[in-house]
Amino acid sequence: MNAHTSSHHDDGSAGPALAFGVDVGGSGVKGAPVDLATGELAQDRHRIPTPQPSTPQAVAEVIGRLVDEYDLPTDVPLGVAFPAPLQRGVVRSMANLDQSWTGVDVPALLGRETGRHVVAVNDADAAGVAEVRYGAARDTDGVVLVATLGTGIGSALIVDGILLPNSELGHLEIDGYDAETRASEAARDREDLSWEQWAERLQRYFGVVEDLLSPDLVVVGGGVSKKHEKFLPLLHLRAPVVPARLRNAAGIVGAAALAAEDARRAAAAR
Ligand code: BGC
Repeated sequence: MNAHTSSHHDDGSAGPALAFGVDVGGSGVKGAPVDLATGELAQDRHRIPTPQPSTPQAVAEVIGRLVDEYDLPTDVPLGVAFPAPLQRGVVRSMANLDQSWTGVDVPALLGRETGRHVVAVNDADAAGVAEVRYGAARDTDGVVLVATLGTGIGSALIVDGILLPNSELGHLEIDGYDAETRASEAARDREDLSWEQWAERLQRYFGVVEDLLSPDLVVVGGGVSKKHEKFLPLLHLRAPVVPARLRNAAGIVGAAALAAEDARRAAAAR
């Protein structure tokens, strides 16, 4: 570990001050180094179109290229967010990338490709961690629900700062439908819904989620959250509902933060 990439943390342990975050989506693979003291991108984000077919090897090579575009010491860990549930780095099922991802051990694959310490997480979980560490839910105790509205609905549940991974609340069955097929940003677009019509669907969705989990705070992310004033005021929940603050960078920042925390734990255990 060198002085340039190391810092001291509250618990007295040394750990990286920089980590590289990658957000893998159906159309693009985006990444940047993240300054972990501030949660800001340390350099501009780069994007490479997602290879087609989006097989593990093809995407791994793209991630390797993306990281190589920055000149970073090898002790800078790599966090990668995927639009799928991952259990301890292994993809449980894959809807939005090539089906051959199912069962892949991502840290093993990307560790071979990049030679770095790798952590792989669900994209909404990454966004949730970013909002709790650096964004709209910073320093919020209790149960925080972060929902990302995009092609699907992603969810992250964070309790007193600790992530309960893979909540997958976008797939709750509500009124006989897979919820994200009715209430995602893609559904609004596909069905050409007005903000009011979409807000009704979001109200139904968040109402069910709130009855199940009683969050203390709901953070709404995804690209559409830049237009939050069009629909968040139409929602009536018991918990306060606020827009995400990190928006497009949230997946990158959260994945990087989780990679750094994991690298620090691994170093402490050695
Ligand atoms: C997937 C989640 C993902 C979300 C947002 C859902 O369809 O099941 O794993 O977080 O989309 O990408």
